[in-house]
Amino acid sequence: MAIVLAIETSCDETAVAVVKNREVCSSIITSQIPVHQQYGGVVPEVASRQHLETINGAISLALEQAELDWGKIDGIAATCAPGLVGALLVGLTAAKTLSVVHQKPFLGVHHLEGHIYASYLSEPTLEPPFLSLLVSGGHTSLIYVKDCGVYETLGATRDDAAGEAFDKVARLLHLGYPGGPAIDRLAQEGNPQAFALPSGKVSNPGGGSHPYDTSFSGLKTAVLRLVQQLEKDGLSIPVADVAASFQETVARSLTKRAIACALDYGLVTITIGGGVAANSGLRKHLQAAATAHHLRVLFPPLKLCTDNAAMIGCAAAFHLNRGHRSSLTLGVQSRLALSQVMELYQ
Ligand code: KG4
Ligand code: ZN
Repeated sequence: MAIVLAIETSCDETAVAVVKNREVCSSIITSQIPVHQQYGGVVPEVASRQHLETINGAISLALEQAELDWGKIDGIAATCAPGLVGALLVGLTAAKTLSVVHQKPFLGVHHLEGHIYASYLSEPTLEPPFLSLLVSGGHTSLIYVKDCGVYETLGATRDDAAGEAFDKVARLLHLGYPGGPAIDRLAQEGNPQAFALPSGKVSNPGGGSHPYDTSFSGLKTAVLRLVQQLEKDGLSIPVADVAASFQETVARSLTKRAIACALDYGLVTITIGGGVAANSGLRKHLQAAATAHHLRVLFPPLKLCTDNAAMIGCAAAFHLNRGHRSSLTLGVQSRLALSQVMELYQ
């Protein structure tokens, strides 16, 4: 049984949690969204400075709310890749420093492995193998989870991540940042069949299309063209219908690929992680398709879908239990394939 204090600062959330294997003892999440909203997106340098200002208070609060002192902590973890380099550096440096001061093992954690482990927190019986659909602002992947640290990426986006597409479409509809929740809200009032949009197929060089890869940049351009055409024709933009049609297209596209992948690989459980997992359209379509194919789909609660440190702590606790440790010379990396996770440990 490992108790880990974990730090997550890969993007615009300063998060610290204390996790006992699959149990969350405390989870502090300080969002920087209001700070970045004025710029219409995350400004990396601003994010790093905000993390610096918030991190110490968040660490103290996480320990206090867990009602634990440093003596009870078995390991200290931080996200080390992928993400914004300056932002990652704040969390990683704090974790390394605490590990030296309190003489505890230090572990660097892959952010996407954290998103996978969010489902371990919400479903105590979950065990590999299973398929994980990760849909966040920076990533869209279908991952075959074989064991702790053993992952095979079966599908990915060729260009924009799903969350990035939501954010870009929201920007062109003047809905503000972050775009996903705004589109999700508006889509409830719109007609998802109002506009036919391209479904994000990726053509294979030899013909046909890739069964699991997606492409969202064409979809985003199609929405842009649609808006431009309506403006040119002097028509008002039916924003709710555009939002609903866009969301429907993304949800159907992701659902189709996730179900095909699970069936082809004989995986009966699909988990979902990342901010876009909060999307109501995706949840509805995926649940319906999974039920129709007798598959189990696990949706973690929303606070575990978006960035948090509890998921990082859970992944770290599993590694710690297996005797994995990171070197204090471990650095941050803006990109790192999930298949390289074990390179983080000695
Ligand atoms: O996982 P996350 O918190 O951060 C990253 O690792 O990227 O995901 C953030 C992304 C943003 O692009 C945001 O617009 C999207 O998740 N998002 C949503 C919803 N809530 C957050 N997208 C669609 N529908 C939502 N309800
Ligand atoms: Zn994330």
